[in-house]
Amino acid sequence: MSQNILVTGGAGFIGSHTCVALAAAGYAPVILDNLGNSDVRVLERLERITGARPRFIEGDVRDRALLDKLFREQPIGGVIHFAGLKAVGDSVADPITYYDNNVNGTFVLAAAMQAAAVRTLIFSSSATVYGDPDRSPIPEDAPLRPANPYGRSKLMVEQALADLHRANPAWRIALLRYFNPVGAHESGLIGEHPQGKPNNLMPFVSQVAVGLRDKLAVHGGDYPTPDGTGVRDYVHVMDLAEGHVAALRHAEKQPGLVTLNLGTGQGASVLDVVKAFERASGQRIAYEIGPRRPGDVPAYWGDPTLAQATLGWRASRSVDQMCADSWRWQQANPNGYA
Ligand SMILES: NC(=O)c1ccc[n+]([C@@H]2O[C@H](COP(=O)([O-])OP(=O)(O)OC[C@H]3O[C@@H](n4cnc5c(N)ncnc54)[C@H](O)[C@@H]3O)[C@@H](O)[C@H]2O)c1
Repeated sequence: MSQNILVTGGAGFIGSHTCVALAAAGYAPVILDNLGNSDVRVLERLERITGARPRFIEGDVRDRALLDKLFREQPIGGVIHFAGLKAVGDSVADPITYYDNNVNGTFVLAAAMQAAAVRTLIFSSSATVYGDPDRSPIPEDAPLRPANPYGRSKLMVEQALADLHRANPAWRIALLRYFNPVGAHESGLIGEHPQGKPNNLMPFVSQVAVGLRDKLAVHGGDYPTPDGTGVRDYVHVMDLAEGHVAALRHAEKQPGLVTLNLGTGQGASVLDVVKAFERASGQRIAYEIGPRRPGDVPAYWGDPTLAQATLGWRASRSVDQMCADSWRWQQANPNGYA
């Protein structure tokens, strides 16, 4: 099997970190990205970390002719498919754009893979497929009831890929349901830099720490959780990246379809993260507790035991390390790659 791995969305947050983990494991990432939510300067950073600049094709995963050409021009051993849109609020306002990128994008990719006889696919799903769970930790066989178009787009893709595998069992597919990826590579050279006001906690906290924003807006302080703020399963992006390499290795060994939670199995509240970030940065994080945000779930965390048993993978980095690495990245790159 070729060591070239196509990484769609590989210029983005999780994709770029996965390129580092792939290179460390001896693979050669080939990035396809339309740069809709990323910066081409990440490639120089990847070269500095790994010693080799990944091949980069600027383009859209919905462009079938481009994909056919890409598969024709070089052997590809497998595909890790990150390309997609991920802002829940935008998906509510503009569902068709979300279904087009996330669902149609995956269909075009899978059809091109089928035509090129490349049948190893690792897919970025999300814990949002569970919606508001009955209990935590959430096992993979919990009810699936996503509460917004973004989550439904992930579930639709999961179902379509399961049908594809049923129709042709030669496919090797991993559906990876991520919990809350945060942190940055320990070098501080790559990380997450959302455009505009961050929707997620960690980039918001780190922008307050570095002085880009005055204070953190905490959405809800009266949830039935130990300190009243929302609880999530934060997972270090490098743990997640290594989980993808483990899933790829597993898929290479045996055909089949696996659906796995990638998380730590532990919950941390908003205020736990604020305190950990203060320890890591030595900065005080001002915050203000406001009303709950519509659609937010009070608390959830995943059960990662199936991923541990199947892949021999386990998230090992602590919330303190997630904060220390985010801070290193944020401090060295207050304006992202600009
Ligand atoms: N970050 C999270 O909290 C989280 C949680 C669960 C699942 N996910 C999923 O993981 C994947 C990666 O997320 P991320 O946080 O790295 O996001 P990101 O926005 O940083 O990365 C996605 C990348 O895909 C590219 N892209 C988007 N649409 C494309 C298209 N049609 N063609 C080519 N490139 C395209 C973007 O330019 C970007 O570089 C997404 O599918 C996301 O839904 C993310």
